[in-house]
Amino acid sequence: MAILKILQYPDKRLHKVARKVEQVKEATRELVCDMAETMYAAPGVGLAATQVDVHEQIIVLDISEAHNQLRVFINPEVIASSGEEEGEEGCLSVPGIYENVRRAEKVTVRALNEKGDSFTLEADGFLAVCIQHEIDHLRGKVFVEHLSQLKQIRIRAKLKKRLRETL
Ligand code: NI
Repeated sequence: MAILKILQYPDKRLHKVARKVEQVKEATRELVCDMAETMYAAPGVGLAATQVDVHEQIIVLDISEAHNQLRVFINPEVIASSGEEEGEEGCLSVPGIYENVRRAEKVTVRALNEKGDSFTLEADGFLAVCIQHEIDHLRGKVFVEHLSQLKQIRIRAKLKKRLRETL
């Protein structure tokens, strides 16, 4: 297991579109373990492979308080969605920034687990938000890109300033 480096917005590699995993193999499972370790260490509730500069459709999530309910989604696809809800989001690639984003309230997602078995999950509430946020990453989209241009400019300026201060 290893802790991987998380790309920081506005890194251009966060905009790469992830390809499908053709076959879930041992290397896929190793990556899933490393991603989970990286997510728990951060700490965070979700991580997409894109964020660790691996451009394959893999997501790990754990929204449980005890951090003992890891969910793995390989090649996830939203097959149904309904409703609309706005909620505050944050991202390990955009540290310290929390903004409201409008998303579907409920989603049905189909994916493969780490064994390569297909499953379907109906999610609502925070889990639905996380799934949509992470699937966005696989498409090269960071949550702040749902916001107005003005807000995005402000966020980038804030992050650049912070980066200068820590150098
Ligand atoms: Ni994120």
